[in-house]
Amino acid sequence: MTDIEPSSPLPADEAAILDESIIEELKHLTHETLTHDGPRGILAGLVGELVEILENAADFQIESRLDVTAGETSSGDGLAISPTQAAMCAGEFQRTAIFLRGLHDAIASVIEVGSPEPVRVLYAGSGPYAALAVPLMTVFSPEAVRFTILDIHPESIEHVKSVVHRLGLTQSVDDYVVADACDYTIPGDLLPHIILSETMSTALEKEPQVAIMRHLLRQAPDAIIVPEWVRVDAFLVDTSKEVDVIMPEQEGAHPDRIPVGTVFELNAETIRSWVSLTGDHLPAAAIDIPPPPEPHYRPYLFTTITTYGKHVLQTHDCSLTGIREIPVNDAAIAGKTSQFHYQLGAAPGLVREDKSLS
Ligand SMILES: C[S@@+](CC[C@H](N)C(=O)[O-])C[C@H]1O[C@@H](n2cnc3c(N)ncnc32)[C@H](O)[C@@H]1O
Repeated sequence: MTDIEPSSPLPADEAAILDESIIEELKHLTHETLTHDGPRGILAGLVGELVEILENAADFQIESRLDVTAGETSSGDGLAISPTQAAMCAGEFQRTAIFLRGLHDAIASVIEVGSPEPVRVLYAGSGPYAALAVPLMTVFSPEAVRFTILDIHPESIEHVKSVVHRLGLTQSVDDYVVADACDYTIPGDLLPHIILSETMSTALEKEPQVAIMRHLLRQAPDAIIVPEWVRVDAFLVDTSKEVDVIMPEQEGAHPDRIPVGTVFELNAETIRSWVSLTGDHLPAAAIDIPPPPEPHYRPYLFTTITTYGKHVLQTHDCSLTGIREIPVNDAAIAGKTSQFHYQLGAAPGLVREDKSLS
């Protein structure tokens, strides 16, 4: 990952369109990223090259001494990370690949139904590259798929305009919007078939994914959301047996973790079930944390993200699926029921209600 300094790009329509061979290369890399079924190292290389094309088209200057958080925005619904941090997310290759694959299949599923209009994708929180959408503009024609690209940070939208223009993809974009997605009113003639947002962190903490999806899906209730499903599960983990080096792992191969239960799920069904709720809490589960079998066991939250269909990000696949300790005193919580809720607002996240057990 490189540190990148956001700079003002030339006005999009004054910047030169890139050579056709670069656009063809992006198309090729996108196809490979969507279909590669081999070693992760190869996928890392493919996504790295793909992101390099977006970086060049976005006209970012590299500055290694930069404070990467400069320019972040604290909104009433959570933190909007800075344009530089958002650009750096694109290099998380497994995240970017699995989101691209999920969005690709979500689009294909809408096309399959045979809608007479183009598939409309509302991308809430694009960052400066719109990295989860621009590559797919090389795969689907503008007659088939159109994007509305939205971000809270004006400079990110300026850079996205440059990327789209320089890659000759302007026909694929219906609109660019600078807005807080949680205040945005979707125009009646641009109701999306798909709402895409990656505005989240591990265990759905800090960033506004839940609030954004809730606000947008209410306006387009039939839309597919990408990610389709985010699940947060609790496990008792033997911390003495966890690996020293964080590496991607497959589900089910960890006998040293005791499943405790699903704490919270974000999907279209749960969002619809909250439609009449008005407060700043959303319901989450009550779980029984068993007495730890050995002293090293501690309770943790794990996050699993299904972007769409079979495309899943599991534990340690990327920074969004890292693990979070539930801050409790083992002796006090063992054998008791812990009730959780999801706290909305400027610092969103899962909260265990009986803090006296800490
Ligand atoms: C984690 S980055 C993802 C960037 C890019 N979509 C990607 O996946 O590579 C999240 C982006 O969402 C934007 N964002 C966060 N909260 C937002 C909000 N309430 N309204 C609009 N944009 C928001 C941030 O400015 C940032 O660009």
